[in-house]
Amino acid sequence: MPNNFRVYATCDLGEALLGLRKRGYEVEVYPRPEAPPKSLIVEKVGSGIDGLITTLRDQIDAEVFQAGQGTLKVVAQYAVGFDNISRGDANRYQIPFTNTPDVLTETTAEFAFFMLGELARKMWTAERLLRENQWSYWHPYLPLLGAGFDMNILCVTPTTRHSDYLKAIQEMMDLRYARQISKEKNWVKMVGFEEALAQSDFLSLHVPLLRAGESSTPTYHLINERVLRRMKPTAFLVNTSRGPVVDEIALAKALKENWIAGAALDVYEKEPLAADSPLRDPSIEDRCRLYPHFASAGRITRLSPDPNLGMAGRCVQGLIDVLEGNYGGDLTQMPYVVNQEAFGRQPGPA
Ligand code: GLV
Repeated sequence: MPNNFRVYATCDLGEALLGLRKRGYEVEVYPRPEAPPKSLIVEKVGSGIDGLITTLRDQIDAEVFQAGQGTLKVVAQYAVGFDNISRGDANRYQIPFTNTPDVLTETTAEFAFFMLGELARKMWTAERLLRENQWSYWHPYLPLLGAGFDMNILCVTPTTRHSDYLKAIQEMMDLRYARQISKEKNWVKMVGFEEALAQSDFLSLHVPLLRAGESSTPTYHLINERVLRRMKPTAFLVNTSRGPVVDEIALAKALKENWIAGAALDVYEKEPLAADSPLRDPSIEDRCRLYPHFASAGRITRLSPDPNLGMAGRCVQGLIDVLEGNYGGDLTQMPYVVNQEAFGRQPGPA
């Protein structure tokens, strides 16, 4: 059967879309780098497309699903996070949506470490010093001292326990020590949130955005004024998850009043970051690193058409699975379909 499906993509995914065209799909791509207006998405969906490829910039809600009633068969999100898609509305209209889990985990984790390293070694301040021609001598502890990578790890998770994974990490730490690769005997352990706040030198966030009512453990403003006051004054915050997990007004105040030592952010409550955001306050510039939501932006991670390597490949595979009826057409068996509960699967822990 020819694959004469019609697909609209709200941004270009490169080679992976050529792959769809080679399969016989008719693929239209929004040509500009910014997100298309919502009205255009609704118009395209209303024109009877079979599949819609979205990014985290597109609000996909009842208006979009309504426009696609009876014709739209899948929304394929190019991201692991899907807080821009109303799961309730997708379920009401019985339209499956997919995401791109796992392929970006390592790249994003690496970037969280780059951010952590930048904070730990004060790299931005150091480079500015040099560029302003303030570097006038080499000295054992001037102008700056920082900390390195050897660390103990405290893990917090409200849901699953990941005990096998933690065991493997501990085994690796033990081996590094036994083989004298590491001079310190480090450990990893599961702790409660309050203990992590009180003990941590770096607090790195790796959670989905879940608003009240979406989960028994919501993450919206998880990092708020109370939490920031509980952290050590020498501690740093790293956020590569979703902006609204952090209350930015509270964070700007915490940095200004030195409740914590610094923060590095890749994501914001509203993106792109507003010109008048308190996070841009020059008085906190030396301890607030700001990046443009690009932690996952490794070339292969973003663009590889191989579904085992790239978000582009995995996004397109999710779309193909639904449209071409892979897995015997059983949506609850398709690995990238998120809202499987709408098609009969019991929901797992949120
Ligand atoms: C990026 O933020 C993603 O969710 O993939």
